[in-house]
Formats: sequence, C-alpha cells, structure tokens
Amino acid sequence: MKFFVDTADIDAIRELNDLGMVDGVTTNPSIIAKSGRDILEVTKEICDLVSGPVSAEVVALDAEGMIAEGRKLAKIADNIAVKVPLTWAGLNACNVLTNEGNMVNVTLCFSANQALLAAKAGATFISPFIGRLDDINLDGLELISDIRDIYDNYGYETQILAASIRSANHMSDCAKIGADVATAPPAVIKKMADHVLTDKGLAAFVEDAKKANITIL
Ligand code: E4P
Repeated sequence: MKFFVDTADIDAIRELNDLGMVDGVTTNPSIIAKSGRDILEVTKEICDLVSGPVSAEVVALDAEGMIAEGRKLAKIADNIAVKVPLTWAGLNACNVLTNEGNMVNVTLCFSANQALLAAKAGATFISPFIGRLDDINLDGLELISDIRDIYDNYGYETQILAASIRSANHMSDCAKIGADVATAPPAVIKKMADHVLTDKGLAAFVEDAKKANITIL
C-alpha cells in the first residue's frame, strides 16, 4: 500500500520523505488554509520535495471553473493530481482533465455509487473518507471494501485512496482490505510505530544492558 501524507507542513513532509515513507501528498482547501500560505507557492514547494503525486484541490463549484483551475494547478509541476469534488460538475471536470492527460483525484466520496461514477469518469484516484463516515456511525472501512470489490469485478484502474484517516489502526485495516493508497496526517503515520510491548521490552533491555555494563562503541 502506498502512503500519502495528508498535510501542507513542509517540515513534516520532509521528515517522512527522508525516511522513504512518502509516496505522495494530499492537500485540500482546509489544509492549505491551515498552512497560512499561498496555494500555488506551497504546492510548488511540496512538488519539488516529493516525486509522487501531489493532490491540489480546486475551489470552483461549476465544471468550467474547476477545469480552468485544474489546468492552472496542473501547470505547477508534472506530479500534480488535480483534486475535484464528487459532484456532477466534478465528474465532468474529471473527465475533461483526465482526457487532457492530467492525474485527477476525485474527493469527498461517501458511497460505492459515487466511486463507480468516478471510475467511469476516468479518475486516477478515488478518495473515500473513512473518518467522516465513522463520525456519523457509518462504516468507513466497509465502504473501502465495497469499492475494492466493485473495481476488481470490472478491472477499473482507478486507485482507491483511503482518506480521512484518524488512527493507526485505520492504516492496517485499509492495507488488509486492499486499498491502493492511504493518506494520513504525519502524526498518524508516526503512531504506527508505537506498541506498549515494544516500550516495555526496550525498557527491560536498557536496564539489563546497564546492569551487565554492555557497551558496543
Ligand atoms: C484527503 O485527501 C482528505 O481531504 C483528508 O484526508 C480529509 O481528512 P479529514 O476528514 O480528517 O478532514
């Protein structure tokens, strides 16, 4: 499973990228607003840092506006994936931008039907939002599983990009189901390394090494 980082925090992206943990980056208008930076400037900086796809989201609501914004975003770098919302206008923009040779990430997906339409529109990525479904007592992971089945049934090449990930468990659950990509905030990716038994075991090893005066260098 590929790991995308869901942030516009350059330092956080750099840290994970240097460790080889970053296959791409996702942003959205809320993430860009949080960065306090100009969308074109911060997105260019991310694209220069990371070689994989960098999702940059349009803000227009009509297809024509999304297409114009998408074309401008795509000019930032070769690794831009234009992100459009899963509305009828967004699907229209996805189709046009895909046919022009751009990567397109269709976002705000909350149902299998929406994912089916995105694949028909030629999306490179479909972004089902797990956490936001869980927030309203629906099953986000079940949606990922349904989309996996549907795409496999018909050989759709659209990649399932599990988004709105809130916990480390979501990451392994998505990997078990067969999501192609999961995008998560840096803190969630780092949390994947934690285990209480690792901490406990390490504390015992440190104590024993001290007692036995074990030194290596
Ligand atoms: C990524 O593409 C999504 O925009 C992001 O994962 C949404 O996450 P949130 O539901 O935590 O805002």
